Amino acid sequence: MGTITYIKNMVKDKYIASITPTSIYGVKDVCKKIDFSKDNVIVEYGPGLGVFSTYILDNMTKDSKLILIERNNDFVDHLKKEIKDSRVTIYHDSAEVVNEALAELGLTEADYIISGIPFSFLTKDIRDIIIESTYNCLKPGGKFLTYQTFFQKNRYLREGIEIRFSRINDSYCFLNAPPLKIHEGIKE
Ligand SMILES: C[S@@+](CC[C@H](N)C(=O)[O-])C[C@H]1O[C@@H](n2cnc3c(N)ncnc32)[C@H](O)[C@@H]1O
Repeated sequence: MGTITYIKNMVKDKYIASITPTSIYGVKDVCKKIDFSKDNVIVEYGPGLGVFSTYILDNMTKDSKLILIERNNDFVDHLKKEIKDSRVTIYHDSAEVVNEALAELGLTEADYIISGIPFSFLTKDIRDIIIESTYNCLKPGGKFLTYQTFFQKNRYLREGIEIRFSRINDSYCFLNAPPLKIHEGIKE
């Protein structure tokens, strides 16, 4: 179901950039960097069909908040239909609006920002704006968690993260098709 929906949508929208949702192993590898015992504000860029979103909702506290920012109209419709949870707010927009999205909810900072968006498809200007806004929205100690296919060149994402985040941990998830490269940028 996920793969068919992705392929159908990718024909119309190149920014989906994948033919299948992230595997549960990929989701767990990224989400193990989140401390789910605390109340958190978590933002997700590019939730797609919501594989990360549902895992996060299953694990986060009742007073945590999850903000989803997705630019594809069909995926937004799907998320609105499938996710009925008062802890979630869904924005049909692009990741650059993260500041405004938090402000609309009366929030100024997030604990975690997770991103699955294809940075290699964005212009350098947009990439820089997204990384800068992400950094500014995170609390000290907050994390920017990104995952990309393993063959993506560092110039599209990691080098941008390096400019803002002085601590970055890299890892790989091989139980995903294709394997994922995961960056954990920590705000000092
Ligand atoms: C590779 S898919 C990942 C989907 C899902 N998170 C997963 O892991 O299966 C990339 C997603 O990012 C969305 N996307 C692409 N560019 C975006 C942007 N600038 N802002 C928000 N979402 C974006 C796409 O529509 C798509 O849903």
